[in-house]
Amino acid sequence: MEKGLTRVDLFEYQARDLFAKHGVPVLAGEVIDTPEAAREATEKLGGRSVVKAQVKVGGRGKAGGVKLAATPDEAVARATDILGMDIKGHTVHKVMIAETAPEILEEYYVSYLLDRTNRTFLAMASVQGGMDIEEVAEKTPEALAKVPVDSNEGVTIEKAREIVAQAKFPAEVAEKVAEVMVTLWKTFVAEDALLVEVNPLAKVANGDVLALDGKVSLDENADFRQPEHEALEDKAAANPLEAAAKAKGLNYVKLDGEVGIIGNGAGLVMSTLDVVAYAGENHGNVKPANFLDIGGGASAEVMANGLEIILGDPDVKSVFVNVFGGITACDEVANGIVQALELLKSKGEAVTKPLVVRLDGNNAELGRKILSDANHPLVQRVDTMDGAADKAAELAAAK
Ligand SMILES: Nc1ncnc2c1ncn2[C@@H]1O[C@H](COP(=O)(O)OP(=O)(O)O)[C@@H](O)[C@H]1O
Ligand SMILES: [Mg+2]
Repeated sequence: MEKGLTRVDLFEYQARDLFAKHGVPVLAGEVIDTPEAAREATEKLGGRSVVKAQVKVGGRGKAGGVKLAATPDEAVARATDILGMDIKGHTVHKVMIAETAPEILEEYYVSYLLDRTNRTFLAMASVQGGMDIEEVAEKTPEALAKVPVDSNEGVTIEKAREIVAQAKFPAEVAEKVAEVMVTLWKTFVAEDALLVEVNPLAKVANGDVLALDGKVSLDENADFRQPEHEALEDKAAANPLEAAAKAKGLNYVKLDGEVGIIGNGAGLVMSTLDVVAYAGENHGNVKPANFLDIGGGASAEVMANGLEIILGDPDVKSVFVNVFGGITACDEVANGIVQALELLKSKGEAVTKPLVVRLDGNNAELGRKILSDANHPLVQRVDTMDGAADKAAELAAAK
């Protein structure tokens, strides 16, 4: 992936929802994660449905991940088959129960994307949809129209007609497809997408044109103005450590350095990141491996959870525990650290990476004494923030 360009690929059901929001014609659909839920979802659709695997990879149909169900019972059976299925290395955890399209007469392809090499937006359209579009591009490139789109002008109905004409859509659907191209462009712009794709865009028996499958990639850099997008991100797949931390209620962000960081209070952790990055410059440029704020409480259990997450990160070479005693005094935190190490040991996760602990603030002396008395071979006490950061960086560099 290019640096600075983070794309968030959506599931089909999420793409469907965004399409619906901007007026792209879609069929009803509901995402579920148990076979039994397929029954009610299918009943709501009048007793029949299409059961569709939700994985972020194409070719689900060919792989057996898209099945028609003529009754609610059949939908349960198909959902049973499809949930847990492996499609090109992706396990199916969710299926969409979709409304069945009227008889499909033709399948087309349409998309918009950011063409980085030519620094422009591109509309692509083909009357040979349904199948893998890369194959169309390779075998019959003349069947795939590519039309640059000026971002200032966007896609008006006139521009959409031009795209449709270039792709040689049949006259009887041309205007409907052009209307879809306008709403699809709205989706692309309004959602800060890098790609919106419909394959197939189907011409069905009653003459309608419907988006039966959708692919959307969002630009994560635009998240600051897209508050709704965060919920669309598949955090568990993106970063298992962040997902595990979230499950434990910890405020954790993975970074790409080597020094694990734990602190109490967001402000303290932020300045710890700076101090470690600065100290790292003298030690082979090691950097902070994460942000982790264990908050005011800092009980043994919270400390153990935090250490567990950080030590579970293979990039971490040393850990800096930076605590400023407040309402929870340093002696309690020190006991927390000692107990956390015991707790991890008893879970068979004995600590093998060096820990540097700095305690200051309320009851600091007592806390330091508790750590000294515990005399853990991998724990070092350094009483200043700069000194501790330097030690942690040095240890990380030495590994
Ligand atoms: N709601 C639907 N109703 C009827 N047929 C569908 C529906 N959704 C998909 N299909 C059919 O299944 C094929 C594959 O589905 P699609 O969603 O495109 O998955 P994929 O591209 O991953 O194979 C489509 O080309 C279409 O023929
Ligand atoms: Mg498809």
